[in-house]
Amino acid sequence: MNKFVGKHVVIAALSVLAGYVASAQAADVVGNAKAGQGKVAMCIGCHGIPEYRTAYPEVFRVPKLGGQNQQYLENALHAYKKGDRHFDTMHAIAVTLSDQDIADVAAYYAAQNAASKNNPDK
Ligand code: HEC
Repeated sequence: MNKFVGKHVVIAALSVLAGYVASAQAADVVGNAKAGQGKVAMCIGCHGIPEYRTAYPEVFRVPKLGGQNQQYLENALHAYKKGDRHFDTMHAIAVTLSDQDIADVAAYYAAQNAASKNNPDK
């Protein structure tokens, strides 16, 4: 085997491995709405108030999370965490969440509807 081919074999093997690790992680993380319920205490302050708007640093409407699509919520939180989606407070919060936390709170909020006992209308 010449040097050129050898290098490509190594790169191919590494990318297969990287893909395997990435998919293994994704498969492990399954959102649990019950666990999520214990993790949303710090979200409620902003997301739990109907028609709430932050006053600082600018006026922003705080989106409703309850009943949102679970995958959408997960994607949004990962995007804030990575910095792909910009919003300072949400970035600061998202970096404190593990992949499991994100899956859990997304499952929790996705399961909410207007009739939910604990956090109606959000
Ligand atoms: C300090 C107030 C505040 C707190 C606390 C907060 N958020 Fe947010 N959140 C916001 C605001 C404001 C936005 C809208 C930002 C934007 O325009 O991108 C937002 C956006 C989001 C979005 C995107 C929603 C959409 O419709 O695209 C998700 C998901 C979210 N927050 C989840 C959470 C979770 C989960 C927590 C708790 C772990 C939390 N937030 C805590 C203020 C807050």
